[in-house]
Parts: sequence; C-alpha cells; structure tokens
Amino acid sequence: MVREVADTEVWHYPLPPPYETLLEKVRGVNGLLCLITDKIDAHLMDVAGPELRVISQMAVGFDNVDVSNATVRGIAVGNTPGVLTDTTADFAFTLLMAAARRVVEGERYVKAGRWQTWGPTLLMGHDVHGATLGIIGFGRIGRAMAKRAVGFGMRVLCHDHNCNKESARKLGAELCSLNVLLSESDFVSLHVPLNSDTYHLIGEHEMQVMKPTSVLINTARGPIVDPVALYEALLGAEISFAALDVTEPEPILHDDLLLTLDNCLIVPHIASSSVATREKMAIMAAENLIAGLRGEELPHVVHP
Ligand code: DGY
Repeated sequence: MVREVADTEVWHYPLPPPYETLLEKVRGVNGLLCLITDKIDAHLMDVAGPELRVISQMAVGFDNVDVSNATVRGIAVGNTPGVLTDTTADFAFTLLMAAARRVVEGERYVKAGRWQTWGPTLLMGHDVHGATLGIIGFGRIGRAMAKRAVGFGMRVLCHDHNCNKESARKLGAELCSLNVLLSESDFVSLHVPLNSDTYHLIGEHEMQVMKPTSVLINTARGPIVDPVALYEALLGAEISFAALDVTEPEPILHDDLLLTLDNCLIVPHIASSSVATREKMAIMAAENLIAGLRGEELPHVVHP
C-alpha cells in the first residue's frame, strides 16, 4: 500500500533500528511508520526536518512518541485503536485463566516426568467463576475484559476517572476507588495507557493493599508496575501470582529476578498478536501514513 504512493525505505531486520540509525534514516522524510520499539522524540523530529508531516504508529499505545512535540510542529500522529481490542482482552483473560488454574506449572510438571497419578490435591488452583476481577482503566480493552468476566460469572469492579457509575453498570461492572478495587479483587487487570500519572501506579503500597491470594495481570505497559516492588511482593507472598505480557524494561533482562520466580508468568508482549489483528493493525497504520502524506486528515489520529 505504501509503496504505491511513496518512495519507501523499509527496515527489514528483526531487531529495531538503533536510535542513531533511525536518526540517519529519517532525514528529509515526509512520513514515518513506526513501532512501539522506536523512540520518536523531539530530537528525532528536529533531525527529520520540516518535511515530516506524519508519524504513524502500528499500535494503539503511543507512549514512545512525543505527541506534544509533534503537535507543536504540526505533525499528525496516528495509531491503531479498536482492531486489537478483543484480541488483547482475549489474551488478558487467557493469562487470568492460566494463572488461576496453574496451566504453566501443570505443563512443567508433566514434561518433567512428575505425573504419576491423579491426586485429590494435585495442582489445586482457584475458581474463576464467582471470583472478583478488578479492572484498572475502563476504556475499550478494559470494557472488553469486563464482558468476558461477566460471561464467566465473575463480579467485576472497575476504576477509571473517565467513567461514570451508569456506564460501568451497563457492562455489569461496579465503579469504585482504586483502594476498594485493590482490596476486594481476586484478580487485578491493568488497562491504562502509560503516562506520567500511571508510571508505577502499582507499587509497594498497592500490592500491600491487594489480597495475599490475588493475581496481577498486566497486558498494558510494563512501567505501570514497579518491578522491584513486584518482585518483593511475589517473594514475600503479599500477592500470589503475576501474569505479565509487558515488562520494565522490555524485553526483560535475562538476569531479572522476576524470571527466577515460579509465581510469575512472563510472555513477550504478544497480547495483540493474532494473525488477523496484526494484519488489520498494519493496514490501519499504512492508511494513516498515506492520508498524512497526502495532507489529509488521518482516519485514526491521536491528537485531533
Ligand atoms: C499496542 O497496540 O499498544 C500494543 O501494546 C501492541 O499491540
């Protein structure tokens, strides 16, 4: 799609371009299609020069892009909302189920040759039905998570400053304070964007408020959880389990202490990664880029 309308240079390598390389490549370009692994800051925009009209991010989250600086420069910034909502919620729920019912431990147990008999207390987990799910951030993905939880017979609590009681109630959820949500939930799932308000939103204090039996699920952004506090909380059994699709830093370092814990499940930021959804995200990102190159309004702009 992009090649049909513009001279295009594509970064073909599996690892992201180093920042210095990106700086060399952006000089004089009119548009940039980027991923969450690319740091698009004011300096990069300066180096790109005044011809840069559009930054199109192939993701719904855009914390790697300095949107206010792009706005000041009149550069349009696009993202890919909506198409990944259900896929991401499916995956957050997958992590919830896997944590509750000890799927990963079960698999390790079998492959280690330890399965000798059916046991009345073997790998007992926690019921999902009847449990309470706390959803922090009740936007598109948080609401999709609520629908799944209601379908599973869960009680749903939500916390979001931009949501009112009535709209939460319509989805079967109760709007409450962060403290109530943390203290009453069996599962806490994060669905807020990363910004200065949400950086380390879940830290030592919050994990002390959570139930010792509770599970933390993060499919949003790694730095929303303080990783040092999380390690201490998991080690000290202040919470029982964490299921993380995202980490701080990302990728997680091979010697990160969280990797040593049996009660921490970590997967490599794949919540939106279904074949159909990644294709839709790519097409949306191309459409945003092309609209920006043509000087048209982007179909999905983050700063209208
Ligand atoms: C997003 O879109 O922000 C995800 O984190 C990557 O799909």
